[in-house]
Amino acid sequence: QQQAAESLYILNQFAQRYFSRVLKEDEEGQAVGMSYLEERGFNPAILEKFQIGYCKEDRKAFVTEALREQYNPELLVKSGLAAVRNDDLVDNYRGRIIFPVHNTNGKVLGFGARIIRKNDKAPKYINTPENEIYLKSRILYGMYFARQSVDKLDECLLVEGYTDVVSLHQAGIENVVASGGTSLTTDQIRLVRKYTDNLTIIYDGDAAGIKAALRGLDMALEEGLNVKLVLIPDKEDPDSYVNKVGAAAFRDFVSGNKKDFILFQLEVALKDAGNDSIKKATVVNQIAETLSRINKAEDFTRQQDYIRQCAGLLQIDEAGLIHLVNKFIR
Ligand code: UTP
Ligand code: MN
Ligand code: MN
Ligand code: MN
Ligand code: MN
Repeated sequence: QQQAAESLYILNQFAQRYFSRVLKEDEEGQAVGMSYLEERGFNPAILEKFQIGYCKEDRKAFVTEALREQYNPELLVKSGLAAVRNDDLVDNYRGRIIFPVHNTNGKVLGFGARIIRKNDKAPKYINTPENEIYLKSRILYGMYFARQSVDKLDECLLVEGYTDVVSLHQAGIENVVASGGTSLTTDQIRLVRKYTDNLTIIYDGDAAGIKAALRGLDMALEEGLNVKLVLIPDKEDPDSYVNKVGAAAFRDFVSGNKKDFILFQLEVALKDAGNDSIKKATVVNQIAETLSRINKAEDFTRQQDYIRQCAGLLQIDEAGLIHLVNKFIR
């Protein structure tokens, strides 16, 4: 186990260096990979910092190199860098931009590989499969580069994707990590809590983005995080939006549009319920359950504040809401 983990780290470092070198020095790397990244507005310094690379379209350019260096074929498959096709070992990330995924000490755990040429069949990203060191539920992309800034600013921004993290860094916003678009896990929340109690989720304003964000809420509250939410306007994500409006306007947008997550959830639910009294009763119950989750001794004042604000939004009696909240506390 320990041995396998160590071998994977070594292989990943070799692969990261290879893909970076191909992006910068190889003819195809420059013509296809670098042109694509330049067109998207990424500058050389940021590509260097995030150790971004390119995997050639060739069937097995990387595999050939790795086998020449005596890397074990089974390890190549386990790492996700290679796949078996018709009894042959081939590159798994052919024709893709390579985003190395680091642990908090800067070691490469795995990769996210983005397709360049649009293709209906192929997935947009291929990610490293679960193995001894790539444990998806424990990883937040970018934490290695974000942690100092998160600690200093006492706030962690959470976005969906690799390119969101890299573009925000380029814009000087460094306290940012990505979840990979899925809802947060307890381990990811605990990782954030090592550095700060304040999490600001910056997701696409589309329904899927909001849903993914909401799913992480209850757990985040139980772990004692203060969660805020910023929704990025129509059809944009943080990467496209910061490229469109610029760094300063992006910052202003974020600070001007931070909503408390609990109150946001309540507003959405209330809008949904309209004048239907049965639906409204369900909303009251749901919010009471959510509020019951912040009943940790040290958060008592915070809970009381929320109860006051929620009772206001619901236009119900505060004492009644307190009573209901207490019923959910086990
Ligand atoms: P998006 O589809 O929003 O991609 O998925 P993106 O990050 O904006 O990438 P660009 O800007 O189009 O290049 C958000 C995140 O969800 C994960 C990735 O982590 C991605 O960054 N994802 C998405 C996958 O793992 N696989 C996919 O096929 C798509
Ligand atoms: Mn701190
Ligand atoms: Mn989306
Ligand atoms: Mn996106
Ligand atoms: Mn994007």
